[in-house]
Parts: sequence; C-alpha cells; structure tokens
Amino acid sequence: MSVPVNLSDLEALARERLPQMVYDYYAGGANDEVTVDENRRAWEAVRLRPRVLVDVSHVDCSTTVLGRRTAVPVLTAPCGFNALAHPDGERAVARATAAADVIQVVSTVSTTSLEDVAAAAPAAGRWFQLYCYRDREVTRALVERAEQAGYDALCITVDVPFLGRREREVRTGFHLPPGVTLKNLEPYAVAELAASERDSALRKYVNALWDPSLDWTSIEWLRSITKLPVVLKGILVGDDARLAADHGAAGVIVSNHGGRQLDGAVSSVYALREVVAAAGDRLEVYVDGGIRRGSHVVAALAMGARAVLIGRPYLWGLAVDGEQGVRQVLEGMQNEVTLAMALCGKARVSDIDGTLIAA
Ligand SMILES: Cc1cc2nc3c(=O)[nH]c(=O)nc-3n(C[C@H](O)[C@H](O)[C@H](O)COP(=O)(O)O)c2cc1C
Repeated sequence: MSVPVNLSDLEALARERLPQMVYDYYAGGANDEVTVDENRRAWEAVRLRPRVLVDVSHVDCSTTVLGRRTAVPVLTAPCGFNALAHPDGERAVARATAAADVIQVVSTVSTTSLEDVAAAAPAAGRWFQLYCYRDREVTRALVERAEQAGYDALCITVDVPFLGRREREVRTGFHLPPGVTLKNLEPYAVAELAASERDSALRKYVNALWDPSLDWTSIEWLRSITKLPVVLKGILVGDDARLAADHGAAGVIVSNHGGRQLDGAVSSVYALREVVAAAGDRLEVYVDGGIRRGSHVVAALAMGARAVLIGRPYLWGLAVDGEQGVRQVLEGMQNEVTLAMALCGKARVSDIDGTLIAA
C-alpha cells in the first residue's frame, strides 16, 4: 500500500504487519460487534451547520482538560498491552503525546510500569486508568503509585464488572507472548495471565481478579485514598452522570469501551447528549468510541463534550511506526480538527456550540 492518508489506510497497513491474534484483540469487540460498528456510523451520521464569512485565518484548537492545557481536545484512551503493537509500547505513546502536547491515559494493564511511562516524558499531562482488583491492597497500591509518579488524575473504568465476550479472542486463544507482561502488577501476586486453549487468557484473568462488586461506595473509598481528581469512564446514562457528580467525580467519559463490553449498548454519540444534559456544569464530560475524523471531534464539542479520546487509531500508528506512527496520528487529528473548525467558521474552541449540529 502507498502512504496512508487517513486512519482507515493506517489500519489496513497495521493489519498487514500485526499477527492475527493481536490485530483481532485490537480491532475486535463483544459478540456480533454491533456496537463497534454503530459507534462509528453514529458519528458519520451527524450533520453540521457551518457558518461562513468568519475570519478563520488563525484557528486555535487548544483547550483545557481538568485545568491542564491540551493542544487539541483529543486524549489517547487507555488501551492495554501496547507492547503487542511495538516493543517501545507505552513509552513511545508517552513521547508522542508529549510532542503533540496532548494527555495520555495509561492503562492498569500496560506493558510498561506506570513509573517508567511517566519517566519517558516527565513533564507531560497524564492520567492513570484504574481497574479495581478484588484485593483492595493491590488497588490502593496502584492509586498511591500513580499519585507518587505525578499523574494528574485517576480515571476509574466502571464498565468492566466482567469482561465482555470478545469472540475473536476466543477464536485466536488470545494470550501474551513471552516477554510481554503486566508490568504494573509484577510486585503483587496478580501478574500472571495464564494462556488457555479455546478461551481468552484476558477474560479468565479479569473474571478471577477484578472486583465485580464495585459500587458507588467504592468510588467514595477511592476518593478517600487519593487527592487526585477522579474521572469515571464508561458512563452512558444521565442518571449515572448525576450520581458521579453526587459522589465527587470531576468528570465522566461517555464510553461503551469501544464496543468491547455490552454488545447492543447505545453508541457514544447517542449517550453524549443525555449525559451532557445531566452533568450541567458539575462535571467535565468526555467521549470516546468510533471517533476517526476531525469533524467527529468538532461535533462532540458542539454536543457539549470537553474533549474526546481515541483508542484504536493510535494503536495502528504504534504498530506501523512506533513513536513516529503515533505522532503522525496525533498530527493528522490536529490538522483535521483545525480544518473542520475553519470550515465550520469557528476560530476557537469556545466558539463551538450546539447550533453547529443539525437537529
Ligand atoms: C485493544 C484495546 C484495549 C483496551 N484496553 C482498555 C483498558 O485497559 N482500560 C480501559 O479503560 N479501556 C480500554 N479500552 C477501551 C478504550 O479506552 C476506549 O474506550 C475505546 O478504545 C474507544 O474506542 P475507539 O477504539 O473506537 O476509539 C481498550 C480498547 C482497545 C481497542
């Protein structure tokens, strides 16, 4: 293939280079992947109402997220096992996000320790995504380490009481190849992802070790052990956004986990408006799932999101060309957001509002 000009091209290139098991783990979703497909189609169905004769000779797409500047309202979503795409894994993503001046959200199940990710780009904005272990001392230790390592926020993923059944992972018998480990968990007795025939090793791991009894009192406990602002990832309903605010969250991420958890869950676009309305000015609202174009980012902001997250796209960049590949994805996204804003007649993020969306 010639040089990729968009994220679909990049995915095709990554697919050629990655082992089938890894490509399927990254690309796949739960059951029939209805929600995976719908996430993207829902963004594609949004129509915009561009204004004209506005001076857009200088477009500034920077904004702030939890008070921290980001050059463009796009964060890299927490995705497990980055080393499956490239040996530099999360470190490469750390350097690329730092270069692009955007925030990286680092997964609990990263293949680099959270301290080493931070050391790869010390001054950059970074959140730690937490999965809560049944063993609360493991959970507490992860939170304390993230705070000590200078992370700006704790992003608690709340949509995985059990892992969705990702049938591609069952078919390929998803497992970690030798040398790729759950680095954050190595100090504890929960670092082993045992391979098993005819099932996903990840599913067995998650279902045995993560805490399915998590509820709103757990969020209060987590808040009591950290000074970091808490963001809840995986909110799809207005009532849960209200409860998040009542329990002291600083933000919520409207997300169906990229269609990897409940197949048939609402698309993130659909859920966004309801959550924004419920959040009022009590929470920052972010959104992810199927965002592939700058115009999707602009539409999300117009619907009231503060910023978006992208998952699979940066994994494709990482697979194709390591740090450089992730940089290209983020630069491409910034260029697209800038152009979409200009074509909408919006010179600044604060100029974007709901009137941009065709009803
Ligand atoms: C390969 C892969 C691994 C993921 N791992 C995690 C994870 O460790 N923690 C988490 O909260 N979300 C995880 N997610 C979900 C993403 O954070 C994000 O919600 C989703 O990828 C966004 O959709 P998109 O890939 O269509 O942009 C993962 C997603 C993918 C594709």
